[in-house]
Amino acid sequence: MCAYLKNTITASAFGKDFLWGVAMAAQQNEGAWNVDGRGPSIWDVFARRQGKIKEGGKPTHACDFYYRYKDDLLLTKALGFSVFRFSISWSRVLPEGMGRTNKEGLAFYHKVIDECIQLGLTPYITLYHWDLPQALEKEGGWTNHNIIKWFARFVTVCAEEYGDKVKNWIVMNEPAGFTSLGYMLGKHAPGKTGLANFLPAIHHTVMATAEGGRVLRALVPNAHIGTTFSCSEIIPFTDTEEDKQAAKRVDILANRLFIEPALGRGYPRDDFKFMEKLEMHNHAWKYTERMHFNFDFIGLQNYFPVVVKYNALMPIIQASEVKAVTRKVPHTAMGWEINADSFYRIIKRFWLYGNVKEIFITESGAAFKDKLQNGVVNDAERINYHQQYLQALLKAKHEGMNVKGYFAWTLMDNFEWAEGYKTRFGLIHVDFNTQLRTIKNSGYWFRDFLQHS
Ligand code: BGC
Repeated sequence: MCAYLKNTITASAFGKDFLWGVAMAAQQNEGAWNVDGRGPSIWDVFARRQGKIKEGGKPTHACDFYYRYKDDLLLTKALGFSVFRFSISWSRVLPEGMGRTNKEGLAFYHKVIDECIQLGLTPYITLYHWDLPQALEKEGGWTNHNIIKWFARFVTVCAEEYGDKVKNWIVMNEPAGFTSLGYMLGKHAPGKTGLANFLPAIHHTVMATAEGGRVLRALVPNAHIGTTFSCSEIIPFTDTEEDKQAAKRVDILANRLFIEPALGRGYPRDDFKFMEKLEMHNHAWKYTERMHFNFDFIGLQNYFPVVVKYNALMPIIQASEVKAVTRKVPHTAMGWEINADSFYRIIKRFWLYGNVKEIFITESGAAFKDKLQNGVVNDAERINYHQQYLQALLKAKHEGMNVKGYFAWTLMDNFEWAEGYKTRFGLIHVDFNTQLRTIKNSGYWFRDFLQHS
């Protein structure tokens, strides 16, 4: 049962300046995929392919945020949050990814930003949350070197358009996620596989992230610039040398690959053939300087630790995961282990890089099999989850790690990528037939919790 249901922490313990927010992303929430001049994204196209999304879910309408943003922002405010993190759909503002801008698309984000400001919500803009314009994918997407230039133009358009109103910017959302799932494993859009796609996609993403930071710095006075990384503690299944080495390899890909070049260290140079290939393919040694950007903050997004064992049959990585279900440990509806101690340890690990100035938890949340009954969603497990994770975060803060904010993933149930609509992460329940919103008990829990922030 839920050991933490009794409130064990208070928001005020995090201090007056600590920021409490919700996070969401354009493709997962907006819908309105083909209105007012928006161009298609890779997800619009990918979702039409047979068998790619569970139960054939499509992001065409999602939560209809495009038309309901006022209500949804009001709900965010009503739950007591003070930060709203959202992303800009690249193909809504630049329908072909480059070239001409779309006035109506640009106007939409002005309306969202203005509404936030009016309600007293601080907007945090994510520039890239996985929805590449399909027009650019036709040119090779993240595998094409020109994407650095295309991305810089997108950032320029957004910075010039919104930079006087918005000071908080997140360049990239979880690069390890979209490059591996979309360009190696084929499970996410655009559905590409193999090293020939993965190696250039990694490098161009690293380069574009730093470039995006530089564009923002040049164009937005007093900007507070960050970028997010997914992170997972990687734990060897046994004490054997083979399992330990397997964990080391997975750790490079899961945790080190993107942050180390951003911090100016270049790619991890450990004894791992994959890294040699990455360097060689991209002549990466030439770019150490350009891969570096002095971010004001990093966003960490931790959903689970990963236990791995040596597996000779797995190409390149020679490791496989021992799932939480197999290990019979507490896990979410995604099968992701719930482990707040591991959350604490991974934050500490990133903090110990030394030149990280501020950390934000830019996403934290969990999916459970929520049931709406008589207008109530009693999601005690989600409340318990947030309580445990916040407790761990507080410990990190007390030990001097400069953690400045916690953004719940996510405001409302939405299009959960390849999982479609069945997997619910929201603090607010959405009926996707009627678009009716129902605040879950976890939403009310946050409201009560934040009253004392
Ligand atoms: C992504 C979100 C996603 C969440 C849960 C994160 O990796 O940034 O878009 O919905 O995980 O899967």
